[in-house]
Parts: sequence; C-alpha cells; structure tokens
Amino acid sequence: MADIQTQDPVYKTDALIAEDIDAYLDIHQNKGLLRFITCGSVDDGKSTLIGRLLYDSKMIFEDQLAALEADSKRVGTQGQDIDFALLVDGLAAEREQGITIDVAYRFFATEKRKFIVADTPGHEQYTRNMVTGASTADLAVILIDARKGVLSQTRRHSFLAHLIGIRHIVLAVNKMDLVGYDQATFDEIVSDYSNFAESIGIKDFTAIPISGFKGDNIAIAPSPETPWYSGPSLIEHLETVDLGADEEQARPFRMPVQWVNRPNLDFRGFSGLISDGEIAPGDTVRIVPSGKTSTVKSIVTMDGDKDEAVAGQSVTLTLADEVDCSRGDVIAAADAPPQAADQFETTIVWMSDENLIPGRGYWLKLATQTISATVAEPKYEIDVNSLEHLAAKSLSLNSIGVAEVTTDKPIVFECYKDSKQLGGFILVDKITNATVAAGMIHFSLRRAQNVHWQPTTITRDDHSAMKNQKPALLWFTGLSGSGKSTIANVVEKKLARMNRHTFLLDGDNVRHGLNKDLGFTEADRIENIRRVGEVAKLMTDAGLIVITAFISPFRAEREMVRNMLPENEFIEVHIDTPLELAEARDVKGLYKKARSGELKNFTGIDSPYEEPEKPEIRIDTTAMTPEEAADLIIARIIP
Ligand code: ADX
Repeated sequence: MADIQTQDPVYKTDALIAEDIDAYLDIHQNKGLLRFITCGSVDDGKSTLIGRLLYDSKMIFEDQLAALEADSKRVGTQGQDIDFALLVDGLAAEREQGITIDVAYRFFATEKRKFIVADTPGHEQYTRNMVTGASTADLAVILIDARKGVLSQTRRHSFLAHLIGIRHIVLAVNKMDLVGYDQATFDEIVSDYSNFAESIGIKDFTAIPISGFKGDNIAIAPSPETPWYSGPSLIEHLETVDLGADEEQARPFRMPVQWVNRPNLDFRGFSGLISDGEIAPGDTVRIVPSGKTSTVKSIVTMDGDKDEAVAGQSVTLTLADEVDCSRGDVIAAADAPPQAADQFETTIVWMSDENLIPGRGYWLKLATQTISATVAEPKYEIDVNSLEHLAAKSLSLNSIGVAEVTTDKPIVFECYKDSKQLGGFILVDKITNATVAAGMIHFSLRRAQNVHWQPTTITRDDHSAMKNQKPALLWFTGLSGSGKSTIANVVEKKLARMNRHTFLLDGDNVRHGLNKDLGFTEADRIENIRRVGEVAKLMTDAGLIVITAFISPFRAEREMVRNMLPENEFIEVHIDTPLELAEARDVKGLYKKARSGELKNFTGIDSPYEEPEKPEIRIDTTAMTPEEAADLIIARIIP
C-alpha cells in the first residue's frame, strides 16, 4: 500500500495547497461542483463506499488499480475482486499518526459533475473533524448499516449536519446484501429516520438502499436485487441534486478583505474571497465597519480584469476613491451592508479536551477578523440524542451548547443562517494556539450599541502629570504563602517614603469586599483577576502606582491584564517560592487543611499554578530578604 499512498492523486488532506484544488477544478472547469461529506464509521462501510465511488467514476489511475488488485488478492476479499476499503483504510491509518490531519478530501468526477468529498472519521470523539469537513459541504451522506438501523451516531451526525447548515441529506442504507435486500427492513429504517429528522427540522432527505460492497444502486439503479426501489442510484442523485441555483449568489455582495494589495504607488487593491453575492465595475460598495462608500473601478484576477465576479471567487477590487480599508474589514453592497456588534447569542460546538472556561479570553476568528472574545456560562447544553436542553456550567469535548459571546471590539457579522462565512467562527486558545471550538451566530445582542465610551476632560496624562509620576502596575504573582503580601507591603512603604502615590490591592482583602461573591473554582479565579485588572487599570488611569498581590495562577488572565494597559506599564513580578517552602511555612494553616482534603481547589495542591514564562522581575525568596526584594522591584520603575 505504501506506493499507493504516496502516489495517490485522489487522496489529499487539509494541508492541501490551494493550487491543487485550482488545478483540479481547471480540468473539469465547465462542470458544476458538489462538495459533500460522508458520515458514518468504517463499520458502516464508509471506506468501501468511498472507494467504490472513486472506482465507479474511474478516477483511480490504471497503475493504482493494478496495485490495488494485487493488494486485494494478498489480503483476501471474500470472493470479491477488489477491496475498495483498502484504498481508503490504508490512508486512514496514516492519518491517525498525524494528528493535525483531520479531514481527507478526495476528488472525483463523472460526466455531469465534479465532486469533492470530505472524509471525516466516524468515532464519536471526532465531532471536530466532522465540523471542519462539513462547513463547506452542500450535501451529507449519512451511512447506516442496514443490520443496525438508526444509531445514536446517526442522530448526532444528522444533527450536526443540519446545525452546520447542510441543505441536502442522503440516507444511504448500506449493507443491504446482508439483510437479503429486504424491503421491509429498508422501509422501517426510513420511517425511523423520518421521525427523528422531522424533530430536528430536516425537511427533506433522500433514502437509497445500497451495498457498497456489491455495488448495488451505487452507479445504476435499480439494482436487480432491489426491484422494489424506484429512486435514483447514489451517483445519479449526487449528479442531479438541485443545488438551489446558488443561493449564495442571490444574496447581497460581501467580501471580507484578506489583504491590501499595494505593489506600487499607482495601484491599491483589496483582495479577498467573495463570500456572498456578485459584483461588477460601477457597483457602489460600503466598507464595514467604517461605513465609507465608493464605487468599484475594476475587478482584477490572475487571468486579467473581469466584468463581474461571484461568490466563491478570489479577486482583487480597486475602488474609485481613496478610502481606508484594511484586513478584517468587509466590502459590501452599499444598500445592504452587514452589521457590526460585540455581543452575540451563539451555538458552540466544543472540540477540545480542555473544557470551556467561561470568562477566559479566546481568539475569535470570523472570516478575516481575529479578535479577543469571552464566552459566558452556557445557557444550556443540547443532548443530541434526546434533544433535551441540559443545564451546563461549561462545555466539554464534543458537547454542543448555546452561550453568549462578547468580543473586545465590534466585529462585522451576519446570522449563520444567512451567511456561513460571516456567521460562523472558531475559537482559538491564546496560549496553545489550538482551535477549541466552532460557533454559529444566532443574532447580536443589542446592548453594546447603547453603551458608549464617554471621553473625559482630564486625561490619564493630566492625572499622571499632577502626581508627578509615571503610573505603573506591579503585578505580583505566586503561590499562597510565597510572600507576595509581605514584599508588596515593603514596596508600598518605601514608595510612600519617596512621596509616590500608590495603592495596594491584596487578594485576601479584595475578597472581603468587591469580590466576596467569588470562590476558588477556575471560573471564579478568572473573574477575580478580571475585576482586579479592571480596578487596577482605572487606578493607573488616575496616575497611581498600583501594587497587586493575588495568586493569579493562570497565564491567560495575567496576559489579559497586561493587554489592558499601555505598553511597559504592566510589570509582572513572580514571587518565586518553592511549594515545599510555602507549605512548610504554612502561615495561615491552609496547606494543612488542603492536604487533609478539608479545603478544595487549593493552588499547588489540587489546583494548578502556571508559572510566568517571562516575568519582568523574578524574586527568588530563598536568596534575599523582603527589603532586598523591594529595592530590586523599585529600581525597575524608579530610575
Ligand atoms: S486567586 O487565585 O484568585 O488569585 P487570591 O490571591 O485572590 O487567589 O486569594 C488567595 C488567598 O485566598 C490565599 O492566600 C488564601 O489565603 C486564600 N484561600 C482560601 N482558599 C483558597 C484556595 N482554595 N486556594 C488558594 N487560596 C485560597
């Protein structure tokens, strides 16, 4: 199989370079394109089916066929000439080794249409791959093993496919040969599925009795084995399914700007992929969010200027006026522009082993925009089997929930039902850069538009000048009992002697007042730091030198506070005391309680402490006194 894998021209992965797609599309340029996904597991016969589709559409090259036949003989295929699953499964094994490759795209074409099929692994934990593969699909083939009928996996895949907005569903009832091509079995499965489909809002689906193994109703229908079936074969259906005359093209024009193309002073173009609608020179457009309007001067492509361009094409637009427009902006039809907002109700599909942490900042990527965002505690989680709404404090791997999302600044968006491109987003962990969730915007929450920033007359610079000092935030972090409060007190005392205006915010104290409603769960600690960060920020606006002493165990929230302040004003001070030492001192007797299990979620014992990677100052408390530590810290802010 090794040779087939390396040479296989029909096997491509996510890493697939755009050129390859272009080259492929070129060959079959004047045929329509159908993108589809197959959902089901290897047990349902998925690999065999895909192999069969590729084979029947003759897209496997001759030499590979020879190799495949040889391989099938070696492995033994129960009297059949070719084991189509071999073509796909060998590759699946390879894929399992490279975790980054989640979805395999295969290309094939028939006389009438060209196809891109995203093959998504079927295990329940692979919801993520399904979401990735499905987001651009027109159709989903839901595979069912005729012997097993509708399973929870069938329901889960159908729910996801519908959620993601796939308009066409094919129910492929496979392995009909193993149930004696029994019509009653087929009818019962279809009736079962109908009930479920209706309950989740799938209005229409096409059911086809097939055998991927024997080839029944794959290329030609009806198979002599199923004289009772009068519908199309799978390939016939894929070739003829009505794609709804490109609904995307009927929508108002939108193009998220990917980059500003400025090779020389005479040319300035805006490049991107048209997500919706169509455009022609002379059309009036509006740049969102700025709201500026202009007229399209030309549509530039690799193949010269065009008279028009439509959704799905990548183009560079030049405009008649010198307007401000940069990456992340959306160029849209002037009379029907999308909105901008910073708060949304969304459905979120969680795809990471690490649970959602409400309140934590994640990168939200929507079209070409990237912005910091937080997710509130979910309103509910959806049980995809029963469709029940369950109470939820967080979301775990593969769970789907409804939650409010807030972005740091307004973003240009549309509801997912109107535009997949401008209504769908992903969330990325800021520290690991892993994609943790996919989301769909239901609608914006209007609150944001009604709260405006009120400019004040006396600025932070005025405050700072009046106090004759540069504001700063000395952010102490370290284990409980590491010496944060002790050293912070010495620092403040010394600064006061130097006539500096300071304020010390201490964990234990703030938790008696402002934050008395918070405990020590992850979510509460995050909220603790968020509030303290906001208060400290206001105090620096007032010109103060602020000292904070909080465990602040998570890197992400310390970074969040750092990003709230002007450059160089946030000074992270790691009070570095080994756990053994802090525990041995046990000033408040809390370590003892934590060890005995009397106190839960104690930092360093059963709750993590993430050490700063690059603190501005690190204080090794085993090597110096609090006085010495304080001098070191002060030297950093007062030259
Ligand atoms: S933080 O994690 O949210 O930054 P913070 O600094 O405000 O914590 O509060 C820590 C102080 O609360 C500790 O010094 C200790 O006195 C007290 N405390 C009570 N329970 C816990 C706990 N489970 N973990 C850590 N500190 C606790």
